Amino acid sequence: MDFYNYESRVNRPLMAKLSELKSSNDRLKHIIFSAQLDRELLEHLASVADMVRALSQSREGCDFLSSLLAHKRAMLYFTQPSTRTFLSFVAACQLLGLSLAEVRDPSVSSEVKGESPYDSVRMFSSYFDVIIMRSVVPNFAECCSYLMNDLDEFNHRSVPIVNAGSGADEHPTQALLDIYTIQRTFRFAHPKDSSSWTRFDELRQKYPALTRGLSGKVYGFCGDIGRGRTVRSLAQLLSRWNNITMYFIAPDHPRLRLGADLKNRLLDAGVRVHEVQSFDDAGEDGRPVIESVDCLYMTRVQQEHDKGHEADAYAGADMTRYRLNRELVNRMKDYAAILHPFPRDSRVGEIPTEIDNDPRAMYFRQARNGMWARAALLAFLFDVDGRIASRFQKDFSDFHDYNVGVL
Ligand code: CP
Repeated sequence: MDFYNYESRVNRPLMAKLSELKSSNDRLKHIIFSAQLDRELLEHLASVADMVRALSQSREGCDFLSSLLAHKRAMLYFTQPSTRTFLSFVAACQLLGLSLAEVRDPSVSSEVKGESPYDSVRMFSSYFDVIIMRSVVPNFAECCSYLMNDLDEFNHRSVPIVNAGSGADEHPTQALLDIYTIQRTFRFAHPKDSSSWTRFDELRQKYPALTRGLSGKVYGFCGDIGRGRTVRSLAQLLSRWNNITMYFIAPDHPRLRLGADLKNRLLDAGVRVHEVQSFDDAGEDGRPVIESVDCLYMTRVQQEHDKGHEADAYAGADMTRYRLNRELVNRMKDYAAILHPFPRDSRVGEIPTEIDNDPRAMYFRQARNGMWARAALLAFLFDVDGRIASRFQKDFSDFHDYNVGVL
């Protein structure tokens, strides 16, 4: 076997790859694609995340959580810049007691002496129990999961790989926290998750079709749709719910608009897909899209993926039409949620700070949810989610709704 030659495996259809990413007990072994997260697992991880956040409110709960994986070590291999993903994984590891180390700058590792990134990853697997990695190189995390599987086959040490963002390709744990944020928002159960939590019945008088949950909702994605790895991952996960409508609001530019592969996947999943170029274009019901969406996912133009000549080509794309402002937000539904994976680009201003105090602005909550969602994922990977549920039931036996009183 030629270790490190994965091209033919990468080029297979996505669905042909998924079984290799599971362990023998049918749990996830590696987290590489959002397609690995089915609706049942997403609901389960949301409930584990709720339990982690509830337990972490007390000293005793924190002590319990941090005892769960105190015998495990995590390597964070982030060679592409990150604030939220890196730090929320650090915090998630700390919550569960994992000790951790990081390589963020390969120029201070032995890669400067000619070591290949694959040899680096194999070395990490010698010392750590999970490798959480972000790279500019598309498919690199996927290839590392094949490396681990091959090592396993030859009875060498092998550990889980978690994809924390790969090129313009996928960002599955961002999609996990995005779904978790939308799940909490559309439960209409807590003031910090939904501006309208006390007014659900009143809202239904104004919006008779409104229901709790993700099904039957209208989702808008705005900005750099073509290269937005968070959009790719989230849209695929949302397609697991029923009766979903999606608007992709982007310039009619070959690199920025919705790609054919994602569009076809969503159509195959039964999503009603619409591509528009303005918030004011008419939606299915004839109203402007900005007034129709239940959830608006704003994105930044991903200039870090540009090569010189491509950046020049964007000069013709007028991105000022893909910025929110107070007037647009005022036209949105009272309960609509505004999300953004962040960072937002302060030079472009796709979400100006004047929106931040609007109760529909969920993006800071969304970032914090990343810590709970990633802790839930790590607990699931290491099979301690059942212990979290048992402890939660013991400590919170009087609670019938996880959300009440949860920060
Ligand atoms: N959303 C996200 O991935 O943010 P960072 O690039 O800061 O990790």
